[in-house]
Amino acid sequence: MLSGRGSNFEAIADAVDSGAIPDAEIVAVISDVAAAAGVERARRRGLPAFAADRGKFASRRDHEAEVLRILEEARPDLICLAGYMRVLSPEFVARYRGRIVNIHPALLPRFPGLHAQRRALEAGETVSGCTVHFVDEGTDTGPVILQRTVPVLPGDTEESLSERILSEEHRAYPEAISRVLSGVPETS
Ligand code: GRF
Repeated sequence: MLSGRGSNFEAIADAVDSGAIPDAEIVAVISDVAAAAGVERARRRGLPAFAADRGKFASRRDHEAEVLRILEEARPDLICLAGYMRVLSPEFVARYRGRIVNIHPALLPRFPGLHAQRRALEAGETVSGCTVHFVDEGTDTGPVILQRTVPVLPGDTEESLSERILSEEHRAYPEAISRVLSGVPETS
């Protein structure tokens, strides 16, 4: 599930194609933003892409119901949030507990939420990185699966640090998914 650029999605799809994530198939790519570049990337790869545009629904609840409907049809064993910018309701999390993972551009529990890279920089951190974690009811609070560090270099800007972290995200997320899939029971 994504809302924007979709570079982590692309890294996951590459890893599925190359067998780096073994025995996996992407059964649906869901975006809450119809114009997200990630949707176009998914379509170009011939994957089933669904744009449940958040603007077209009267409430968050209605929107989430549509996302849940798509998921019920797709029957994923694992849901990967890859830049999905909507908080999932407790009901959603309960429905798929232990089967939702997310990637965050900081070393959680440091800097949860938005603008993590900028905040790490402002806090004077010398090391940052990314975290793949299970999703629970909180924002970026669930159990950590894997973390990767990158140095914060003198003269770094939000952009340069974000880029360095992103390269690490593209390696870390497929690896974490691979680990999780080897331990998650298949949907019956
Ligand atoms: C990444 O930095 C990820 O850590 C955060 O949102 C961004 C998504 O980027 N959750 P992309 O859409 O995968 O390129």
